Amino acid sequence: MSEFPPHFVFGVATSAYQIEGAVEEDGRGPSIWDVFSHTPGKTARAQTGDVACDHYHRYVGDVQLMKDLGVQSYRFSISWPRVRPEGVGRVNEAGLDFYDRLIEALLEAGIEPMATLYHWDLPQALQNRGGWTNRDTAKAFAEYADVVFARFGGRVSRYITVNEPWCSAVLGHAFGIHAPGLQDFGATVAAAHHLLLGHGMAVEAFRGRNMTAEIGITNILTDVLPASARAEDTEAAARMDVFLNRWFLDPVFQASYPEEIGALGVDSVVQPGDLERISTPLDFVGVNYYQRQYVAANQEDPLLRAALLPPSGERTASGWGVEPDGLVRVLQRVTSGYTKLPIYVTESGAAFADVLEGGAIYDDKRTAYLERHLQAVLAASVAGVDVRGYYVWSLLDNFEWAEGYDKRFGLVYVDYETQARTLKESALWYQRVIGTRTLHREG
Ligand code: FCB
Repeated sequence: MSEFPPHFVFGVATSAYQIEGAVEEDGRGPSIWDVFSHTPGKTARAQTGDVACDHYHRYVGDVQLMKDLGVQSYRFSISWPRVRPEGVGRVNEAGLDFYDRLIEALLEAGIEPMATLYHWDLPQALQNRGGWTNRDTAKAFAEYADVVFARFGGRVSRYITVNEPWCSAVLGHAFGIHAPGLQDFGATVAAAHHLLLGHGMAVEAFRGRNMTAEIGITNILTDVLPASARAEDTEAAARMDVFLNRWFLDPVFQASYPEEIGALGVDSVVQPGDLERISTPLDFVGVNYYQRQYVAANQEDPLLRAALLPPSGERTASGWGVEPDGLVRVLQRVTSGYTKLPIYVTESGAAFADVLEGGAIYDDKRTAYLERHLQAVLAASVAGVDVRGYYVWSLLDNFEWAEGYDKRFGLVYVDYETQARTLKESALWYQRVIGTRTLHREG
């Protein structure tokens, strides 16, 4: 039996495009994900976020679910195209009003709001001008962020500027599997830099307002291990680590890019003062953790001369390995290598093939997954990491980007035909963990 420290926060996380639906309501403008998901061949079964979990209309019930579970904090994202339909200029008050109602409902339920400002839904109007490859997008982001700060101030306890800039930059601009669907490495390097610059400029805007709230960034961190002790594998793993982790950690906490990123041409987009802005001090660090990767040297790979080995052992429905120890290691790494700021695990969770049986979902694998990752958080905490909270991805089954609706990550099962919500067994387990602030081995 292990107990969590008194101030440790148990949360759940979602993002706007993945749950809200109502894409044409109350003046919302189109985002790159509307365009991408409506482009044939881009998402599984051509699914889109048009309706998703209809959370835009059902947020009252969803907040009640969280309250029933005893959830202490809710991490959601604010949709930029609801607030500024063209990305810049005109503010759409009706869009802000939705988040106002959501925040009020959360506060009334005693749930601390944590708001992400960018969870991948760039206004399409900005994409038409180059999106994140265009430096002006960073400025537009900071201006939109400032509109949000002005409206919600300290009613949101913690703001996250950008969610996983690695995914936005690389999946969206190099691999083409996320919006905007490019496959261009030059665009990727520029987009990555401007995402980080937008982050830094938003933090500056936040500091200019003297708010009581806190601000941070969320990176997805991967635990990278060499496939063997041979020098060529350890060197390949080091290159992979630059690509997966250091690219987005070094500039934020050390005001520099790793040399290897310089070699990819980042210098052509970095202007004097950018790295100082990107490294504007934060209040906390968000870490999303899903995977460990074993890396072997592979001369055929032109970029990194490295290959990812398929995970051995247990896998989730996404095909990702289950490696809770990797979470301990990434948390320790942030603390020992980068910053002593408090850390929140802003996403952790898994998709499994859930089956609704007589009104219940016996998702033992998810419960075991969460139990082991919470145990990892405790281990990191004992090892001296200042980890203050854990947000399960996700509250609800939702639109898993290019994978569509088939990958269910929720504590709550969503029937997409009726929009009925059913608590999975893992949700009831989480409720007990939160209630007792203790992990009991189940079964
Ligand atoms: C993360 C994303 C989140 C969700 C999970 C499974 O990379 O931030 O939106 O898709 O993966």
